[in-house]
Amino acid sequence: MFEQIYAGAETGGARPPWDYGAARPQLVEWAEARKLAGAGLRALVVGCGYGDDAEFLAQLGFRTTGFDFAPTAIAAALRNNPTTEVDYHVADVMDLPREWQGRFDLVVESLTVQSMPPEQHAAATQSIGALVTSGGTLLVLATTRDEGSEWTGPPWPLTRSEIEAFASGDLLMRRVERIEGGAWWRAELSRAAAVPGA
Ligand SMILES: C[S@@+](CC[C@H](N)C(=O)[O-])C[C@H]1O[C@@H](n2cnc3c(N)ncnc32)[C@H](O)[C@@H]1O
Repeated sequence: MFEQIYAGAETGGARPPWDYGAARPQLVEWAEARKLAGAGLRALVVGCGYGDDAEFLAQLGFRTTGFDFAPTAIAAALRNNPTTEVDYHVADVMDLPREWQGRFDLVVESLTVQSMPPEQHAAATQSIGALVTSGGTLLVLATTRDEGSEWTGPPWPLTRSEIEAFASGDLLMRRVERIEGGAWWRAELSRAAAVPGA
């Protein structure tokens, strides 16, 4: 479905409905509140689409990787950003390169898990969490759904317990906000830093 939507946009069809045309304000606001600076750090953007969030993090100094399973989105990201320093890849959340595990100081997941069928949410959540390095941060943006409510997707917005499920092992929930008048989750998690010599 996603590849078809991106391919349709290439041939004069509608823009993907999720495409904001710039870095997501919910990410920008979060970054600005922390005066986020990425020098010497690695960031990864999950389901990066046209790459606006990845380009934003690269401008903050992060060595940034972006991936999406839609090849047309990745081709457009490269075409739209000819001098990009972002390392773009075609990859599937459900089958990520082993060498990405535990590699990233900041992982940004915006609206990708909820775009996947509900039966894949738990595995996708685990796969994304595993990318965060010791001491690193995971930012999750998603639209909200009440616990137990019926929903016909796509998308399948996330319940509070699905957001909480990103916390696993030493990847700890630091903050969950309901923003945009309650329509969105913004969750921040971090992995406990390893204690040298422990
Ligand atoms: C709703 S869009 C969100 C795009 C972007 N993250 C944003 O916030 O605007 C979901 C994106 O995830 C990608 N995607 C969906 N399932 C995926 C999967 N299994 N692996 C990698 N990318 C996936 C889609 O191609 C699409 O670009």
